[in-house]
Amino acid sequence: MKSNEIRQKYIQFFKEKGHVELPSASLIPENDSTTLFNTAGMQALIPFLMGEPHPANSAIVNCQKCVRTGDIEDVGDNSHLTFFEMLGNWPLGHYLKEQAIKYSFEFLTSKKWLGIDPNKLYVTVFEGDKNIEKDTESIKIWQECFETVGIKANENEKIFPLGKKDNFWGPVGASGPCGPDTEMFIDTGSEKCSSDCKPGCHCGKYIEIWNDVFMYYYKNLDGTYKKLEKPQVDTGFGLERATAILNNLDNVYETDLFIPIVNEIKKLSGVENPNSKQLKSIRIISDHIRSVIFIMGDNLGIAPSNVNQGYVVRRLIRTAIRHAKLLGIKGVFAFKIAEVIIKEMSEFYPELKKNKDFIINQLIEEEKKFIKTLENGLKEFNKLEKITGSDAFKLYSTYGFPVEMTIDLIKEKGLTFDINEFYKEFEKHKELSRTASCGMFKGGLADHSEIVTKYHTATHLLHQALRETLGTHVEQRGSNLTAERMRFDFSHPDKLTPDQLKFVEDLVNIKIKESLPILCELKPLDEAKKCGAIGLFGNKYGDNVNVYAIGDFSKEICGGPHVQNTSELGYFKIIKEESVSAGVRRIKAVLE
Ligand code: ALA
Repeated sequence: MKSNEIRQKYIQFFKEKGHVELPSASLIPENDSTTLFNTAGMQALIPFLMGEPHPANSAIVNCQKCVRTGDIEDVGDNSHLTFFEMLGNWPLGHYLKEQAIKYSFEFLTSKKWLGIDPNKLYVTVFEGDKNIEKDTESIKIWQECFETVGIKANENEKIFPLGKKDNFWGPVGASGPCGPDTEMFIDTGSEKCSSDCKPGCHCGKYIEIWNDVFMYYYKNLDGTYKKLEKPQVDTGFGLERATAILNNLDNVYETDLFIPIVNEIKKLSGVENPNSKQLKSIRIISDHIRSVIFIMGDNLGIAPSNVNQGYVVRRLIRTAIRHAKLLGIKGVFAFKIAEVIIKEMSEFYPELKKNKDFIINQLIEEEKKFIKTLENGLKEFNKLEKITGSDAFKLYSTYGFPVEMTIDLIKEKGLTFDINEFYKEFEKHKELSRTASCGMFKGGLADHSEIVTKYHTATHLLHQALRETLGTHVEQRGSNLTAERMRFDFSHPDKLTPDQLKFVEDLVNIKIKESLPILCELKPLDEAKKCGAIGLFGNKYGDNVNVYAIGDFSKEICGGPHVQNTSELGYFKIIKEESVSAGVRRIKAVLE
C-alpha cells in the first residue's frame, strides 16, 4: 500500500465520519515562542484544544508537516526522522474517548480501510500514578472492540497498562494540555528480545502505529495538573512508519516515500550496494535534505542562518554534505536530491513547487559556503604541527569545521589528539548555548497567558499601522510572542526611517487610546476576503474563518485569542527595527 493511499484513506475515513479536512499548518508555529517547529498535529490547534471555538465547528482531520530536532542524533536507524507527516483527528468536543478508540480500531482493522489482522494489533494504556487514575475506561473500550472480531483481549496479553513514560503525552513546552494516552502497536512477527518483551519495548518486534491522547488535563507551570473544563482528544498517526508497517518493511527508507531519494543518492555516489556505514550516510542525507526542503519551502522564506530555524536548516544541510563526502559524492549535489523530493511531494504540498527556486538557490549557496568553510578549516588544520583538543574545538567553533572531519584528518596524518579535552570545551560551549536558548523557552506555552494575548492584539495593530504608513505591500512574514516582547516580520524592501517608525508607533498608540473593541466573526473564507480581511497563512481553517476586527481599523483572519478592547494594551513601544533577509524587515516592540 503506497503512502499516498494511506494518507488519502485516513482523511477519507474521518471525512465519512463527519470530520472536516484542514490543510497542514505551517511547519513554523505562529505566535508561539516555545518551539521552533510544529512537532505534532495538535500544536497548531492548541487554542482550540483549550476551548476557543473552531471556525470549522466540527471534528477535524489533517495531515500535518512536523519536524522533531530532538531526534536528530538517532537518524540513520530504521525509524527516526527529523521531518515526518503526522495524520491526526481531533473531535473538538464532538466525541470523546470511546468513539476515538472505536474509530481507531475500525480504521486499522476493517477490510474497507487498512485491513490489519486484529491478531497482530496490541495496545497500551496508562496504568495510573499518584495524581491520575488508571485508565480502566480505555481497557474496557478496547475489550469491546476486540470482542467484535471474536478476540478476548485480556490485560497483559493484548492490552498492557504502562507508566507515565510510555502512556502520557504532552504538554508541548513547559505547560499546556496533556493527558494519558493509548498507543497501538503492530506485532512484526519477529522473535521477542526477552521474556519481558511487550508493546513499548524498543527491540523492533512491536511497532507503534497510532497514539490517541486523552487531553483531560492542563499542566501548570508549577508542575501541577488541573482538569480541563472541556476535555479533548488528540491523535497522531505517523505516515512514514505506517507505510513501512503496512508493507512489511522493517524501515522507513524502503517505502515509496524514500525510494526515489535513496536511488538518486545511489546514482550520484555510484554506491550500489552500500555497507552499513554507507547505508547510514544515505539515510541521513535522505532525511536531512527532505527536512530542509520542507522547512525552506514553507512560505516563510526560512533560509540557512545562525539562529533559530535557520540554524537547524544550516546544521542539517552541513551534516548531509559531510555524509555525501563520505559516500564520495563530488561537487554541489543537494539541489539534485531536492528536485526529486519536490517532484514527488508537490502534489500534496504545492508550496514546495511554488518555492522551488528559493529552495534550490538557498541549497546551492549554502553548499558553496560550506565548501569554502571546509577549505579554510583545512588550511588552518594544515598549519598545525600537532593538534590538541582545544585546537580541534577552535577549528569547530571559529571556522565551523566539523569535528568528525578533524578526526578523519588526524587519522589520515597519523596524529592523535585528546578527544576528552575537546569534549570538555564542547560541553562548556553547549552549556552556554543552552542557557541562551532557555530564555526562549522560558514561560512554557506563554502564548496563552494574558500578556501574550495582549501582544497578539498589538501585532494586529502594528500590522495595520505598517500598511497605512508604508503601503499595502506590507504582509506578515512571521510573528513570535513571549511574555516579554513581540517580534513581527513583514515584507518591505527598505530600512524604515526614524520618521516612519515614529509614525507607526504613534498610530498604534492612538488606536490603543481610542479604546477600540475587538470583535470576532465567523465567515466563509471568500466573504472574509471580500470584506477586506487580510489573511496571512492561506486557508488553514477549512471553509469558514474567524475574522478579528479591531474597531474599523484592522480586520484579520486569525485563530485568536485576543483581548476585548485595545485599552487593555498599555503603551506600545518599538525597540528595534532590523533586516531579516532580502525584502523582509523585523520589528521588536514591547507593551509598557
Ligand atoms: N500528539 C500526539 C503525538 O504526537 C498524538 O503522539
